[in-house]
Amino acid sequence: MIAPILTIASILAGFILVFYVFFPLGRGAVYVASTPEKTLLLVKLSRVVPGERAADLGSGDGRVVIALAQSGAEAHGFEVNPVLVLIAKRNIRRAGMQHMAFIHWKSFWRADLSRFDVLTVFQGSFIMKRLEAKVRKELAPGARVVSDYWGFPTMEPEGLHDTVVCYRIP
Ligand SMILES: C[S@@+](CC[C@H](N)C(=O)[O-])C[C@H]1O[C@@H](n2cnc3c(N)ncnc32)[C@H](O)[C@@H]1O
Repeated sequence: MIAPILTIASILAGFILVFYVFFPLGRGAVYVASTPEKTLLLVKLSRVVPGERAADLGSGDGRVVIALAQSGAEAHGFEVNPVLVLIAKRNIRRAGMQHMAFIHWKSFWRADLSRFDVLTVFQGSFIMKRLEAKVRKELAPGARVVSDYWGFPTMEPEGLHDTVVCYRIP
């Protein structure tokens, strides 16, 4: 009786480990979805306007990418977890936003961010120093970054609303 339960528990634990931890390991935060309220707040604070290009770094199930696209931006998501990539693509199709929202199975560390006007970030404290160096190097002056929970160590924020820190590249 105990053996089958242990087998099922190990399979479940293995699945959770692979799903949540393996793909982002050392590269960024594990998967935790933004709440609907936080998704709307991120997009509102990004002040994205139609015609701009926006990217969500670590796009999860695509909810922030879809919301950015619904604001009129050409929205991109970079995601390392292939299961989440598939889920996000399905969610984009369901939302009818295929013409405006695009998901890339790719680490954002390997993405060229220079073409984006706006970045949204919900990552971990341990990547923020490296990410600050990347956005300072790649983003054009005036581009915006909105980050939930964690800020850059040296860049002066433009504003702080609830848990979201807003930056404009100097
Ligand atoms: C905290 S979740 C945020 C998900 C989504 N942005 C949201 O707000 O609902 C972080 C996501 O980043 C992904 N991730 C972590 N490191 C990454 C990397 N280097 N490149 C792309 N995706 C990454 C994880 O797989 C996870 O889906």
